[in-house]
Amino acid sequence: MMHEPTDRQKRYLSAIEDYLNRQCFVYPHEPQQTLFEAMRYSLLAGGKRLRPMMTLEFCRMCGGNWEEALPYGAAVEMIHTYSLIHDDLPCMDNDDYRRGRLTNHKVYGEATAVLAGDGLLTAAFSRLAMAPGSAEMRLRAVEILAGCAGELGMVGGQILDMASENRACTEREILDIQSRKTGALIRAACLLGVIAGGGTAEQVKAAATFADHLGLAFQIRDDMLDVIGDAGTLGKAVGVDAGKNTFVRLLGMEACQKLVDEHSNLAVDALAVFPDHEWLAELARALTKRVN
Ligand code: IPE
Ligand code: IPE
Ligand code: MG
Ligand code: MG
Ligand code: MG
Repeated sequence: MMHEPTDRQKRYLSAIEDYLNRQCFVYPHEPQQTLFEAMRYSLLAGGKRLRPMMTLEFCRMCGGNWEEALPYGAAVEMIHTYSLIHDDLPCMDNDDYRRGRLTNHKVYGEATAVLAGDGLLTAAFSRLAMAPGSAEMRLRAVEILAGCAGELGMVGGQILDMASENRACTEREILDIQSRKTGALIRAACLLGVIAGGGTAEQVKAAATFADHLGLAFQIRDDMLDVIGDAGTLGKAVGVDAGKNTFVRLLGMEACQKLVDEHSNLAVDALAVFPDHEWLAELARALTKRVN
């Protein structure tokens, strides 16, 4: 991803890929194979899997068995993937490449791409409903994910993002857009890990603070990569968000890298309440220099 993967990272990644590949949308006897194929096309296209990795790690840091957090992490990854499929549609960002391949609608057409996104969104909640853990844990997870993904979270951020195109925004407005469109799902990923691991209220609060700072750093770096990144390495086109309201446009590249570093440091500080948090701290630090 952005540094030599550690053993833990390899273990997490292989468990996540294995879960998504073997346990998701394989129904050999159903007739709607094109839909399953379109859903799997984007889900299995090899994203960085940052969100589910965080879910697993927060579960582990809270003393849980990380393998039991796999359905929780997969649920977040499904919503994230659906958000990318819809984000790339001609009526939104109109992008042709994603995760190193043609976008979903380029291969399957717009109608199927919309439905593949719908299917992933719905399946996410079904995974949570059937996840390991008490009914109370699963209900909390549903509430958190719905809140973060929906009209007050990612979907809300996406509409603000579009509405802000080609007009000047204040720093406050950009912060608000980014914390919703990107921060909210990262927050869900971290909180679901704490829930799955049976963490305390204090740990929920600390995970939210970590996620909010990391989400901001992550989106600012994404906007920087749209200018300085390499399309081949990124797996998506660059220079496509020039009309968007970003911190890069508002503050310039140097100030942005400073913000990325600052928010990553604040994210790392929030990890203090978790025992054995050095791996996640290192991951957060590495993301400040990510190139994909
Ligand atoms: C891309 O997210 C969209 C943003 C929220 C910036 P990622 O950079 O995590 O994309 P994948 O999952 O690795 O493809
Ligand atoms: C992505 O923002 C946010 C969501 C998909 C929810 P961008 O539009 O900047 O993401 P990329 O650059 O297309 O991955
Ligand atoms: Mg977008
Ligand atoms: Mg986009
Ligand atoms: Mg972008």
